[in-house]
Amino acid sequence: MNREREGSKDMLIITICVGSSCSIRGSDELAAEIQHLIKKEQLDGLVDIVGAFCMDTCSKGVSVRVGERAFEGIRPENASEFFYKEILPYANSTLLSK
Ligand code: FES
Repeated sequence: MNREREGSKDMLIITICVGSSCSIRGSDELAAEIQHLIKKEQLDGLVDIVGAFCMDTCSKGVSVRVGERAFEGIRPENASEFFYKEILPYANSTLLSK
């Protein structure tokens, strides 16, 4: 996982909080699972993961941004559901429509 950086118009950036609260709740496992799904769906080079420190939305799970959309309370065990509901459709609509 890279540290925070600017996204490009041709790449969807998934920002995963690696602050202490989110780390305890499984941000590393969530990032690893999402990375696996990015490879599985052949989105390498189109979707990338970066880490961020506390996003001020500590709650029941990990805080995540998909592009500019913010989510909180994501759990590693829900990574696949989250990916196919919130990441893949967004990647398809924002990247593949260009
Ligand atoms: S530690 Fe992740 S939102 Fe605060």
